[in-house]
Amino acid sequence: MNRFKQLIVMFFIINVIFLSHAHAQLAMTNVYGRDAVSLNGQWNAIVDPTGIGDWRQVWEERKPEKKTDFFEYSFEGGPLLSVPGSFNTQYPELTYLEGTVWYKKVFDAKPEKAKRLFLHFGAVNYQATVYLNGDLIGSHEGGFTPFQFEITDVVRNGKNTIIVKANNQRLKDGLPGLGYDWFNYGGITRDVHLIKTNASFIEDYLIQLKSHSLEDVTGWVKVNGSLRSQEIDIIIPDLNINYKTKSNRDGIAKVSFKSRIDLWSPDNPRLYEVIIKSKTDTVSDKIGFRSIEVSGTKILLNGESIFLKGINIHEENPLKSEKAFSEEDAILLLSWAKELGCNIVRLAHYPHNEYMVKLAEEMGLMVWEELPVYQHIEFSSPSMKNKMDVMLREMIRRDRNRAGVIIWSLSNETYDFTPKRNEMLADIAKKTRRIDDTRLITSVINNQGYENNTVNVWDSVYSHFDIISINEYLGWYVPWQGKPEDTEWKLVFNDKPVFISEFGGEALFGSNFGAKDEAAYWSEEYQEKIYRDQVKMFASVPNLVGVSPWLLVDYRSLGRMHPIYQKGWNRKGLLSEKGERKKAWHIMNKYFSEN
Ligand code: GCU
Repeated sequence: MNRFKQLIVMFFIINVIFLSHAHAQLAMTNVYGRDAVSLNGQWNAIVDPTGIGDWRQVWEERKPEKKTDFFEYSFEGGPLLSVPGSFNTQYPELTYLEGTVWYKKVFDAKPEKAKRLFLHFGAVNYQATVYLNGDLIGSHEGGFTPFQFEITDVVRNGKNTIIVKANNQRLKDGLPGLGYDWFNYGGITRDVHLIKTNASFIEDYLIQLKSHSLEDVTGWVKVNGSLRSQEIDIIIPDLNINYKTKSNRDGIAKVSFKSRIDLWSPDNPRLYEVIIKSKTDTVSDKIGFRSIEVSGTKILLNGESIFLKGINIHEENPLKSEKAFSEEDAILLLSWAKELGCNIVRLAHYPHNEYMVKLAEEMGLMVWEELPVYQHIEFSSPSMKNKMDVMLREMIRRDRNRAGVIIWSLSNETYDFTPKRNEMLADIAKKTRRIDDTRLITSVINNQGYENNTVNVWDSVYSHFDIISINEYLGWYVPWQGKPEDTEWKLVFNDKPVFISEFGGEALFGSNFGAKDEAAYWSEEYQEKIYRDQVKMFASVPNLVGVSPWLLVDYRSLGRMHPIYQKGWNRKGLLSEKGERKKAWHIMNKYFSEN
């Protein structure tokens, strides 16, 4: 084969390899403020537990042509699945599926000149491979962050077919890894949209108060498209602001202006209409302005010391035993948090859907968002650094304009003995500060020692974070060694704020099976005692800036297997899965009302 032919073949091979690994793009900001058409609803599905759909190439949807043709798959005649939603909860036979389901949706498109089209997913758990009209358009890994594909040049005029391979198998080198204490809801678990933009559009922006300032608004606007350099207006009618700037040839426009502002806080969740206008695009958003910082061992919101009255929440609507993904789900969960007396919600252990974050902000709840860097993580896996980096950027890009978000948590309960854990956490802490210096960062650790009723918080990795966040289960997993109020604390860093990010224990609502002072009966009284003792101990925790019980409501976790008390539910909720208040709920409600 002559040299020229060799080059042609090489070029072809490279192209095939590239296409087969086309990765999703970072999603544009503020999807709900765009010219977006929802693709939610009923999708056709092929359930593929053995994963043979790849070999059969189901995305080609081949149909018999000759009398002797047949194909051992078809979307037509198969089950329908609601999107958004997990496939596990829609058919009994899918309850425990950890594998592949193929989704199909047909939509009409009318490509327009000088318009661009994007396919946007709020999330697919855990891996998504997306085809359009039988061609691979790309893939995405990560079950809790948005992603998009530009389909401008491949969409047809008229009918188009999307096929999504959704696979929720747990991966040793995944985020999270193989082991986690929540239900593995698989599928297209959040909204899907087709987004139309102009040829040059506003892809991303940051409009927030400068760190440590109560009147300096700072940020930038990023234009995507051929017309990168444009006049940009930032209009905030209620502040009489019409700030003008210009994007450079990279499409970046800097924003910096002063204004007296009615600051956002839980007691005053003030949001402003902010209009970002360029020659070719206009996007509007509701943005709050607040300052959050650490000063010594205190957390200051708008310059005032604040005590964080938190609660942990998983992304699940227990009344439906289903993934939470809608505005109604968010209202249910966040209303329960407000009733408890909280001013912050820890969205455990992964970024929740956008409704949760936006509604929390509107309801006056601060938000702690977290990466699913959970417990056993293969930090030494070659792909791990990139996975953490992509997920971090996807999370921050989506929510960086949400004033309610005050904390980025970069991990939960990782182990100091895991190879490369310390350096990877240090690295992602640095990256986070570089991307967003307007919020606090933390990592949750639970390797503290406990001897002679003394808690020894020793992990040096806390040096990279603003807050020492500790999960402790004294009174449940760890019996007390003395009076709770006499507990001593030794802190590796005594110049940082301390946040008890998890504590609690289990109780089955209404459990009356046996002795109230024995854990093995899951009584409400036992759980209530844990909370009474924890409240006594809080008074002795140095630099305490807040507490967050684990957790708001009982939730599904298949590792919780006791056939009488748990039945696949983690019972540490202050509420039962029906929303019934356990005795411990009242202890926390009183504590929050008094602090
Ligand atoms: C851990 C972990 C939670 C878990 C909880 C429990 O601290 O962070 O995800 O569910 O303990 O054991 O219930």
